[in-house]
Amino acid sequence: MNSIVSVERRAALALVTIDNPPVNALSARVRAGLLETFAGLTADPGVQGVLIACRGRTFAAGADISEFGAVPPPTFRELFATIESFPRPVLVALHGTALGAGVELALACHYRCANRDARLGLPELTLGLIPGAGGTQRLPRLVGAKAALEMILSAAPIGAGAALELGLIDRVIEGDLLPAALACLEELVATRAGPRPTRARAVDARGFDPDFVTKSLAGAAKRMRGQEAPRWAADAISAAVQLPFDDGLRKEGEIAHHSEFSAESKALRHLFFAERAVSRVPGLGDNVVARPINRVGVIGAGTMGGGIAVAFADAGIGVQLVESAPELLERGLARIRATIESSMTRGRITREQAQERIGSIEGSLDLERLASADLIVEAVFEDLALKKRIFRDLGRIARRDAVLASNTSTLDLNEIADESGRPQDVVGLHFFSPANVMRLLEIVRGAKTAPEILTTAIAVGKKLRKVGVVVGVCYGFAGNRMMMEGYLREADQLLLEGATPEQVDRVIESFGFAMGPFVMSDMAGNDVGFKARETVGIRAQRPAPYHEVTDELARLGKLGQKSGSGFYRYEAGDRTPHPDPDVTALTERLARKFGVQRRSAIPDDEVALRCVYPLINEGARILEEGIVARASDLDVIWTTGYGFPRFRGGPMFYADATGLSDVYAQIVRLHSLHEHYWEPAPLLRRLAEQNSSFAAWDAVKAKRD
Ligand SMILES: NC(=O)c1ccc[n+]([C@@H]2O[C@H](COP(=O)([O-])OP(=O)(O)OC[C@H]3O[C@@H](n4cnc5c(N)ncnc54)[C@H](O)[C@@H]3O)[C@@H](O)[C@H]2O)c1
Repeated sequence: MNSIVSVERRAALALVTIDNPPVNALSARVRAGLLETFAGLTADPGVQGVLIACRGRTFAAGADISEFGAVPPPTFRELFATIESFPRPVLVALHGTALGAGVELALACHYRCANRDARLGLPELTLGLIPGAGGTQRLPRLVGAKAALEMILSAAPIGAGAALELGLIDRVIEGDLLPAALACLEELVATRAGPRPTRARAVDARGFDPDFVTKSLAGAAKRMRGQEAPRWAADAISAAVQLPFDDGLRKEGEIAHHSEFSAESKALRHLFFAERAVSRVPGLGDNVVARPINRVGVIGAGTMGGGIAVAFADAGIGVQLVESAPELLERGLARIRATIESSMTRGRITREQAQERIGSIEGSLDLERLASADLIVEAVFEDLALKKRIFRDLGRIARRDAVLASNTSTLDLNEIADESGRPQDVVGLHFFSPANVMRLLEIVRGAKTAPEILTTAIAVGKKLRKVGVVVGVCYGFAGNRMMMEGYLREADQLLLEGATPEQVDRVIESFGFAMGPFVMSDMAGNDVGFKARETVGIRAQRPAPYHEVTDELARLGKLGQKSGSGFYRYEAGDRTPHPDPDVTALTERLARKFGVQRRSAIPDDEVALRCVYPLINEGARILEEGIVARASDLDVIWTTGYGFPRFRGGPMFYADATGLSDVYAQIVRLHSLHEHYWEPAPLLRRLAEQNSSFAAWDAVKAKRD
């Protein structure tokens, strides 16, 4: 027996303990250990019952992620079949968060108990997989087909109480888990309860009709846009309803195999690892310690400042919020209260929590109040002179060991940092709107940002439960640069050539984006990009046409939803976009002005390619300039901050999947048609010519860093 699975005799009972820190992943060694243990226990007639438990903070929280795609023997199925066919009762005791294969292990045991705080979940669909180790066949036998589909589609864990109600577990244990579980097992032995294999039970199929399945899949489609895995899960559960256990298991195996090799699962697994890779920052040693952040100052109570304050309050960190005038402060605080109260109305937090969070944000008109803050986040207007003035003041006011951060989207962080007189203390914290909801946080490393400050910023991102991606300083950093210099510029250009906002949005949404570029622009306000371009003076540096339609709309006051018209027309009090003939007239006029040849129809394929490929090309430049450490960081940025379809893995993964030589050839072709833009990025050319990929580039770089 290996050391991570141990067995202890307690009179006629055997206690089998898995001890594989940190989360007791069911790796090949654990599976082998369990198999060997059960072989030994089967041969020992003195053992009348077995209890399986895990040491440490949780029951098995899933399979070993390093085995994804190639599970070495022994298989889960072999192990679970062995446990299920054990001739004496097998009880499992759950605590912490049992996930995926951990739950499937529990399903294969004869009896299940859990402590009150335990949670059980099958999150496989988030990786484009199905619970493929018997989960789709055993779960319906315990909870019924309907509840099984609901649990698998939700992909979220349920509490022990709910699990008991469903019949997923047999008992909730209050107090000490192990002694109580052993007592349960003793009782099972004493009452001669015997083994109770899940496979021998019938499936309760009540309510699992085509109508229910269709509705459930429609619900899942909203959360898992473009994914096929929900349908695969429904097919596997249908097999459990219709077929004997072994046939159902075979069917599940076929579906699981298919899902494992699907493009969707590869993309989602890529993102799973990519999101974990972001906190590995080249040149930042493990010995750099983050500073404690307990008191935060936020400057500006507008859209972003308010959202940032709520994000900190949600994380249990007190905020001092500074505004420039009493009425603006009051308005900001009122909006903050409304945001927190809406979380309460939706049942996400209790009344007490809401009150506590509202109480943890204190308003002020005096910058000097930030003298005791550990971290100060500036979120005032996007105005370089204003930001510089504030950082000059902060340089004087802030504690010597405070972290100074700016939420600027487009301005030069280094210029702002220098103004403070202590640029080593300055970092960018680029939140996305709404800041308390969006998972993405770009952490901007200035030319002089000290390692300790960067480490602290990364720790702050984690505390806020965000995906913090470290980026370097350039116009728009990584995400907005790809959007403004690629995606939106080209979408705007397509309008000049004769596409309509409706067509572009339809094509991009059917590609899988949450929202097309023009619906998004109308929602965010067409003045946002316009003002940024004006402030930075970027137009003078770029050949025309450059965001001509958007900027003309902004000049005309057609700001989008907030003004009732933009790329679309809106009825009062309604956010439904309606096509606007004025926009067609405007694009015709601008096309004449800039000498752009209009076409009567632009194929949908071309629209998709011309919006998505600039992301890849600009992404390659960003990579080569070292603005981000990895291509996969750009995938994380675009899937968590910009609605790029997760099932396509992000723009750089999508490029690899398409093949870089194809992507490169298209970009060369487009460059020959549009000489000012589309010049292929040198890195893209090199990788394409070498028949390589961004993933390979990341791998080589990871070894070097
Ligand atoms: N809106 C977005 O989607 C978004 C996203 C990311 C980053 N940003 C950046 O965040 C910053 C703020 O943007 P926003 O959309 O919240 O703007 P906003 O206009 O909604 O809010 C800015 C706030 O700053 C306040 N302010 C101005 N001068 C001040 C001073 N001297 N002291 C204290 N408060 C002052 C204003 O009164 C206003 O309430 C900008 O740098 C912007 O580029 C915005």
